[in-house]
Order: sequence, then structure tokens, then C-alpha cells
Amino acid sequence: MISRGPDGRFVERKTTMTTKIKKHDIPRIFSGIQPSGDLHLGNYLGAMRQFIELQDNNDCIYCVVDMHAITVPQDPEALKKHILDLAALYIAVGIDPKKSILFVQSMVPGHAELSWILTCSSYTGELSRMTQFKSKSRGEESAPTGLFCYPVLMAADILLYDTDQVPVGNDQTQHIELTRDLATRVNNTKGETFIVPEGRYLKEGARIMALDDPTKKMSKSDPNIHSRISLMDPPNKIKKTIMRATTDSEAIVRFDAANKPGISNLMNIYSVLTGESIADIETSFTGKGYGDFKKELVGVVQESLAPIQERFNDIRYSDELITVLKDGAERANAIAVPVLARVKERFGLGL
Ligand code: AMP
Ligand code: TRP
Repeated sequence: MISRGPDGRFVERKTTMTTKIKKHDIPRIFSGIQPSGDLHLGNYLGAMRQFIELQDNNDCIYCVVDMHAITVPQDPEALKKHILDLAALYIAVGIDPKKSILFVQSMVPGHAELSWILTCSSYTGELSRMTQFKSKSRGEESAPTGLFCYPVLMAADILLYDTDQVPVGNDQTQHIELTRDLATRVNNTKGETFIVPEGRYLKEGARIMALDDPTKKMSKSDPNIHSRISLMDPPNKIKKTIMRATTDSEAIVRFDAANKPGISNLMNIYSVLTGESIADIETSFTGKGYGDFKKELVGVVQESLAPIQERFNDIRYSDELITVLKDGAERANAIAVPVLARVKERFGLGL
């Protein structure tokens, strides 16, 4: 039922439809990464490592979100390469296609369909408040519509699979909140349609900072290649980037994120890669300088990335990768189709 709200805006009132959505026995997890090339340590420690840990006790779906990538201009050949690179990297870091569904977003048409339906339940006001949109469109008089609608497509990705939890870095908090708002809004107006998902944020190491400027997040769009360590970096690049990482003049290996963000970020990386606590790291580097610590960290990072790079090279140009992605799209689609049918029914779309 549609009527005017107190502010004069058209609003829908709750209908009487009450079919319950079946709860999953095992939590359903969904997450996605953009195939924009050059995945770095921040992506790995902030997002992918969680994905791997979750595989054993959950029903996991991981996606290469290529339709998100075209919100900014892409060279078609480069995009195709980046899609396969990312898919291979998912497997190289430890996503097991036997345990999880791994697929490419554009191969499942339901994402685009649900995205439009959700667009019609969203407001320009809430989308213009998204900080990622604001930072990507800053200074521009007119921004690409795809960039503006990006969070709605992300909500569609999540809601299309009746997702319970979404593991992401905490830079995605606002997008998760929007997803929850959209799901709740539809549930309130159309009757129970979506599971309202939760973000699952990794605390330790959730935010890896740039190595040249620890007040900024490590990012693949930073023009300085020494701001980040890419997962495919050769050993000498890893060494160079860590040895020149910005620290402070105190020269004591002590964790203090507010006053010593550079060394704290490096200690954080060391801690998550080795499993050693920050306190233990402080103890073992007592009386030693930043040079000693950095040298150790170089070894830790090189040893952590070597097996990932080896596996990547094995799989990237194999037929196995294509088979995995085709199978993944089929399995994802089989979940998406009935959810989309439910949504269309609630909205009165089609016959
Ligand atoms: P993006 O590279 O921005 O497409 O992000 C892919 C995933 O990695 C998302 O879940 C992000 O939250 C996460 N991520 C990106 N950069 C970082 C970072 N510097 N620290 C931690 N997580 C990150
Ligand atoms: N917006 C996310 C990022 O920039 C990527 C993404 C797209 C995503 N769809 C998603 C993450 C669905 C989790 C769930 O990192």
C-alpha cells in the first residue's frame, strides 16, 4: 500500500505477506573483491585470510565482482586478465573450490536484476552520503551513475544469496549498513523478503596502512608502489619496500598506533603473519633497532608470499581454473534463482 508520509514523501506501508524465510543450519557467508589488479597485503590480511578460515565451518560464496570494476573505465583485455588473476589468487591463498563456491559476478544474471529492484527501494540522499562515493567523485561536477549506484549492486550481491555474514575490511562498514537498511526497508514494506546480513570485521590486522605514509590505508590506487606490498611482488621489491618504510625517530620497537603509526603498522603485519602477539614481538626486539626488526619482517613477508605465488603460477593458465569458475557460476545461480523469484513475487513483477 502506498501513501504519503509526514514529510510528504511517498512511502509504502507494510503488507500482510508473512512467508518465513528458512534459516540456514550452517551460516551462509558471501564476500567479493574487485578484479582491479595488484592485490596487496591489506587485501590479504584484511579480507582474504578471513575467507579461508571461514571455509571449514560455513557455507561460503566468494565472488570476483567484475561488474563493480566497470564503475570506472576499464580496458576490456586488461579486465579479462584481472578477473582470471583474481580468481587464481583466491585459490592460491587457500580458497578451496570444493569447500566454497568461487565465481565471477557477471556470469550470474541475478546480480544485475536484483540491483535494479533494490535501486528502486533506495534514495539518492543515502547514496550520496557514502564516503567511498564522495571520495571517488570528489571535485567532479558530475559523477558516473555506476559509481553512485555501486553500493546498491553490492547490497544485491549479498542479499541474492540469503547471506548471514559478510567478511570485509572495516572500510566497508557503511556499505554493509546500507545493505541492512535496504533489506529491512523491503521486509517492512513487502513482507519478509531478505535475511538481514551482518558484517564480520576482522579486528587484528583489519586495517593495514600504507608503508610510506602510515596515516593512509594501503591501497592499490596509490601511485607510489612502495606504499604497498603486492601479493605478486618479487623478494627484492618486498625487501626494498619494507626497508624504506616510514617509521619514527624514537627507534624503539614498541606498539603505539597513535604516536608511532609506522612501526605499529609493521608490527601488526608481523604479528598477523607469524601469529606472535604484539607483546611477544616487543619483548624479542627489546634493545634492537628498526633495522633489525625490518630485516626480520622482510623474511616473514617473503616466506608468507612464496607459496602463494607458486600456487598462483600453477593454476593461472590451467583449464582447471576455467572449470572451477564455470562450476562456481552454476552453483551460485542455483541459489540465486529461487531468491530472485521470491523477490519478484513480493514486488509483483512478472506474471
Ligand atoms: P579493495 O581492494 O578496495 O577492492 O578491497 C578488497 C577487500 O580488501 C575489502 O574487503 C577491503 O575492505 C579489504 N582491504 C582493502 N584495503 C585494505 C587495507 N589496507 N587493510 C585492510 N583491508 C583492506
Ligand atoms: N565493495 C567491496 C570493496 O570495495 C567489494 C564488494 C562488492 C563486496 N560486492 C561485495 C564485498 C559483496 C562484500 C560483499 O571491497
